[in-house]
Amino acid sequence: MPGKESSVFESLEQVPPDAIIGIMALFRADDSENKVDLSVGVYQDDSGKTPVLECVRRAEREILEAQSTKTYVGITGNAGFNAGMQELIFGDHAVVKDQRVATVQTPGGSGGLCVAGHLLHRARANARVHLSDPSWPNHSPLLKLAGLHLEEYPYYDYREHGIDFEAMVHAVERIHAGDVLLLHGCCHNPCGADLSKEQWHVLAELCLRRRIVPFIDLAYQGLSEGIVEDAYGVRLMAEHVPELVVVASCSKNFGLYRERVGAVSIVAEDAATRDAVLSNLARVARGLYSMPPDHGAAIVDRVLHDEKLRALWEDEVEAIRARINGLRTLFVGKLAKRGSPRDFSFIEHERGMFSFLGISKAQVIRLREEFHVYMVESSRINLAGINASNVDYVADSIVAVLES
Ligand SMILES: Cc1ncc(COP(=O)(O)O)c(C=O)c1O
Repeated sequence: MPGKESSVFESLEQVPPDAIIGIMALFRADDSENKVDLSVGVYQDDSGKTPVLECVRRAEREILEAQSTKTYVGITGNAGFNAGMQELIFGDHAVVKDQRVATVQTPGGSGGLCVAGHLLHRARANARVHLSDPSWPNHSPLLKLAGLHLEEYPYYDYREHGIDFEAMVHAVERIHAGDVLLLHGCCHNPCGADLSKEQWHVLAELCLRRRIVPFIDLAYQGLSEGIVEDAYGVRLMAEHVPELVVVASCSKNFGLYRERVGAVSIVAEDAATRDAVLSNLARVARGLYSMPPDHGAAIVDRVLHDEKLRALWEDEVEAIRARINGLRTLFVGKLAKRGSPRDFSFIEHERGMFSFLGISKAQVIRLREEFHVYMVESSRINLAGINASNVDYVADSIVAVLES
């Protein structure tokens, strides 16, 4: 038996599982017929399934038939995918034509955030990244692991159910030059409250004036107002500021969650800097995971570049978007009809899959324990967990909890 002092891992303490994992386990163990899961972070259709898109199925078949090798893709990934993502995100913007954008395929949006974080640290080790309060809970661990210092700026006003833009601007005004401002491109996770066009303009002007680097997490392009419309903030920033970070995920808008496909794009001041950035992105990726996975990016490349598949994809994204936005209207209407003592109309104006109900932790627990309706303790719900067969029950349960 080796001596105790030789044990490396003994110093590690048990890490508690993510809160959401605990809720998922409770949901699985609940045998009520009425149970409803509004905690999950993935899109679900009306039958409660997370479907494989038809455009993806078709592209996959073609790819498998034509595939002649399983050798590595390059460190920066599939070139067709990277070009397709640039076009999807930036359109025919001058930054692309002027060769100012370096895009690298990454393992999901999370991989993109991780690569971007390490690149930022490499470029400016003391840069601070400012996150919205609240933000997606994974932003903080992913960026901290890259060695970055994090700060928070006020964003969501839980009382008013909207963005406290005045407080946000006040905080952004105080950010140091060279620091990084992380913004959600659309469909803010977890609050669903998105920046208006006017607010994007104010922030673009502010970032330019204060030499703040915007870092836009675009994880839901197409799920808010439209594929092009949802890139408004990114394209506006690209026009105004000299340097910009954009991380995109294909998990939600292509339904490719487990294939791990996303991209990081850095807009640099000029083409020469872009080349240096690209080489550094490659170096970071090589150090983190060496080569990205192939399959998901090959699918997206094919879908984006085949006219028929692209048209099909655009229709399928539109259907997802229409379902989520339709559910918002339906749900708010049901709550009002069933005599909710509270006004939930703000949910109808928010976007993406998530919104905070704005109820207390005790009410969240009552919903779970008495009514088998599950959500995370912050009262964030995934609207896509609602469907025609459970909407009345969910609305009734919420009203019952609010009334007693
Ligand atoms: C805001 C935000 N950013 C990034 C991601 C990353 O997603 P993935 O790594 O699955 O592509 C998510 C996923 O839920 C998200 O909500």
